[in-house]
Amino acid sequence: MNSALYFEGSSEGLTELANQPVAGPITEPRSEPDHAHVVIRDVHKTYSTGTVKVEALKNINLTIGRGEIFGIIGRSGAGKSSLIRTLNRLEDVTSGQILVNNIDVGSLRERDLVTLRRRIGMIFQHFNLLHSKTVFENLALAMKAAGVRDKAAIRQRIDELLALVGLEGKAQVYPSRLSGGQKQRVGIARALMLKPKLLLCDEATSALDPETTHSILSLLKDIRDKLGLTIILITHEMSVISEICDRVAVLEQGEVVESGPVWKIFSQPQHEATRALLAPLRKDLPDALLADLKPKPVHTGSRAVVRLTLAGSGQKELPLHLLASLGTDTKLLQSDIEYVQGHVMGRLLVSLPTEDGKLPESFSTPVFSDTEVLGYVTPSA
Ligand SMILES: Nc1ncnc2c1ncn2[C@@H]1O[C@H](COP(=O)(O)OP(=O)(O)O)[C@@H](O)[C@H]1O
Ligand SMILES: [Mg+2]
Repeated sequence: MNSALYFEGSSEGLTELANQPVAGPITEPRSEPDHAHVVIRDVHKTYSTGTVKVEALKNINLTIGRGEIFGIIGRSGAGKSSLIRTLNRLEDVTSGQILVNNIDVGSLRERDLVTLRRRIGMIFQHFNLLHSKTVFENLALAMKAAGVRDKAAIRQRIDELLALVGLEGKAQVYPSRLSGGQKQRVGIARALMLKPKLLLCDEATSALDPETTHSILSLLKDIRDKLGLTIILITHEMSVISEICDRVAVLEQGEVVESGPVWKIFSQPQHEATRALLAPLRKDLPDALLADLKPKPVHTGSRAVVRLTLAGSGQKELPLHLLASLGTDTKLLQSDIEYVQGHVMGRLLVSLPTEDGKLPESFSTPVFSDTEVLGYVTPSA
């Protein structure tokens, strides 16, 4: 085993592989962007158990750029794990092609496949640490398995990585003494031991509480920025996607139903599955308001309750004068705004007096991508 392959230089260790011609016919012409790191072409995956066949992936086509954090979201059973596992060939595709670094993963023989897998880091929901081994031993294992015998090199790499993931001083601790977030930090360090350029994350934060999730996602982003990694992460949580992904693909019953920059998918979700996944991020109407809401004005003093959606206008902030221009008798009932990739998104709930449901001209500014009269309330006083 040539350990130099893994440790020399920060550039692709797989240059030998990369320089080989891609085996097998590739349907041309089909130009991919120069910076493509992972290309998924016409991928189908069918599981056959006895006479039962499950079509887990259907006609998947995606190109993931170098240095991107690419999210794949979908409900349980959508095919996310199947898809991510085809990238390092933990699963074979039934048809189609996966190119990593322009290498046709399906064409690799066992030895080259092992090399490729070492160059692709992977982290898991349940961390997959060996509980009878210390943090140090867990990490060392990744290098020993790759044939590295140089103890000083192993120790140095472990020190570097523990510092990177914020676990200095934990080398001799057993996993059972670590919190979930710390275990995932070890998982991340282990995935990075052999200096991969691609990191796959399978529901990496799904076992963690929101605060820990946030810290792990910040760490992943930080690592991407520092090491120039490409990260592909799968999740069923839109909040994970909005926090760190550049682009996202929505998987539903084995198919990509939409994909694009995260802010766009958030602002103009096209598919029902996407809207369902976004639903937990939406604030519901306050209960008291909901109880009083009527479909028609019942009284001359009735006020229309209007939901204003801020999304997709490219607006970077929400000027307060815009709210003022909605009228002095317009009341703000609820607001929920956040930033996704620098775009202001969210919803405002306001009420205003109107007898015929007509809204003033000032409501039709393009800043509001949607204006919806939800109903009417009659103030008690
Ligand atoms: N090894 C397997 N054998 C048979 N069916 C499988 C296997 N792995 C996954 N499936 C099926 O493939 C579909 C997609 O599963 P999976 O990729 O695990 O989805 P997700 O990760 O989105 O929850 C599901 O219907 C699942 O039951
Ligand atoms: Mg899964």
